[in-house]
Amino acid sequence: MARIPFVAGNWKLHYDRQATRNLVNLLLAEVGHASRVDVAVGPTFTSLQTAVELVRGSSIRVAAQNCYCEDKGAFTGEVSPSMLVELGVHDVILGHSERRAVFHEDDALINRKVKAALAAGLGVIFCVGETLQEREANRTLQVVGQQVKQGLAGVTGSDMRALTVAYEPVWAIGTGKTATPAQAQEVHAAVRGLLGELYGGAVAEATRILYGGSIKADNAAELFGQADIDGGLVGGASLKADSFLPIVRAARGASVG
Ligand code: PGA
Repeated sequence: MARIPFVAGNWKLHYDRQATRNLVNLLLAEVGHASRVDVAVGPTFTSLQTAVELVRGSSIRVAAQNCYCEDKGAFTGEVSPSMLVELGVHDVILGHSERRAVFHEDDALINRKVKAALAAGLGVIFCVGETLQEREANRTLQVVGQQVKQGLAGVTGSDMRALTVAYEPVWAIGTGKTATPAQAQEVHAAVRGLLGELYGGAVAEATRILYGGSIKADNAAELFGQADIDGGLVGGASLKADSFLPIVRAARGASVG
């Protein structure tokens, strides 16, 4: 089964509602009704509603950058998956390396969030990736494998229909250093192999695995041309239509699966 490429913008802590409106309108003009590629934008919590209202009726969807694993209760400062669903948010990014490193989220918490988000009906963009130190110690596949196993513990094969994996080497995020297509493909193939062990070949073949880490217009096509790379999670280059749209075009142009 051919996988439809998916390109998601992770805007991180950027853009108020006016800037969100400006960027979403530029994206809608070109890829508001795109076929052969799925596109998501990921604004901050306070700009989600603005983005949701603008993309209504288009093929662009909105992703939140985080959520909590409980639906309600004494959890000051948190937002629940069902609140995102009520707003019209389609996906949530979980396990991002900045959540892991800056906010000390461990695999157990990420796993609870993944399960809660899926149970609420959100799509999940589940991020994994090794640090430079781990890569240099030849531990990449082990580290990423553990993150996948622990992050997806208790997630069923049918839940996997709503889950996308994003492989983001920590040393490539926001650094301008991109994994080579061969480096990325090696990890993507290993993750797909592991999904096959966990869920069987059909689920492994159907699950999209995105690459993330300094994707730019000039490296996107080669990355997306790899057999197991099904699109990208884009940070810096997602903040301007001029740098994001060429990446979406590259994904649409890539033969996937
Ligand atoms: P980057 O970020 O494209 O700026 O490297 C990617 C990410 O953090 O998802």
